[in-house]
Amino acid sequence: MHWYEDDGFWSDFSETMFSGRRRAETAALVARSPLLDFAPGSRVLDLCCGPGVYLVPLARRGYAVTGVDLSEVMLERAGAACADAGVEVRLVRADMLTHVEPESYDVVLNVFTSFGYFDDPGDNLQVLRNAHDSLVPGGRLVIDVMGKEVLAGWIGRPQLVELDDGGYVVQRDTVLDDWSRLRTDWTLVRGGTAREASITSFLYSGAELRSLFEEAGFTKVECYGDFDGSPYDQRARRLIVSGVRESAATAGTAATVTTGGTGAPGEEER
Ligand SMILES: C[S@@+](CC[C@H](N)C(=O)[O-])C[C@H]1O[C@@H](n2cnc3c(N)ncnc32)[C@H](O)[C@@H]1O
Repeated sequence: MHWYEDDGFWSDFSETMFSGRRRAETAALVARSPLLDFAPGSRVLDLCCGPGVYLVPLARRGYAVTGVDLSEVMLERAGAACADAGVEVRLVRADMLTHVEPESYDVVLNVFTSFGYFDDPGDNLQVLRNAHDSLVPGGRLVIDVMGKEVLAGWIGRPQLVELDDGGYVVQRDTVLDDWSRLRTDWTLVRGGTAREASITSFLYSGAELRSLFEEAGFTKVECYGDFDGSPYDQRARRLIVSGVRESAATAGTAATVTTGGTGAPGEEER
């Protein structure tokens, strides 16, 4: 099993990644971000939605939201978060490597470093191609990761995150393969026991991710340093790349549809 398929990993470390504080901050961010300002009623796919940190504020902003994730546990939490908030969101269990719903969305989002998980670089490109094919012509893909240049500014110092229940998580990063990939070793200490996990994913510079978007067929590709629309420069906190599926007149040469959508084997609408 690959690390990203491990439900136990996402559950055990969820307090670090999906804290109440992050939910509150994300709600404020989604409400005002110019990068998330779409036409009312836009069909938005949150690819790798996790426990729904973005789903609820996106639905509240007036979009028709679908969340896709591989983890059963994450989807259950997403469903509960949406029910608590009183918002309706469609949830689908699927793998981003194969998930395509041809020309079904105005926007595809992939946020909080949910990209670059596959060992084969071609598989990560395939995720972009799938997103391209799931968009209507003129639709937009937005990906938010920790950019290589941003990471270089602080990597080397282990991070300590204290949890509300008295536990804590130590996170140590190691650059691999000449800055191609990053391994993060996590240790969760709680009640006198330690749980360890390691994850490895691809790292992208702004120029590299921009090129990948273009290879997948996107046009008008732009990089930003945060959801406030600031430039991807020395002050950037994130690497956010946005690209547009080419118009119907020029579409059709760059990408191929890989599955039949949510009816594909292994996919399950909830
Ligand atoms: C870092 S979390 C981010 C979740 C969410 N986007 C957020 O902002 O909190 C990454 C998510 O990707 C999901 N995931 C991992 N591999 C996946 C795959 N191959 N296909 C679909 N989802 C996947 C995980 O289950 C997890 O919920």
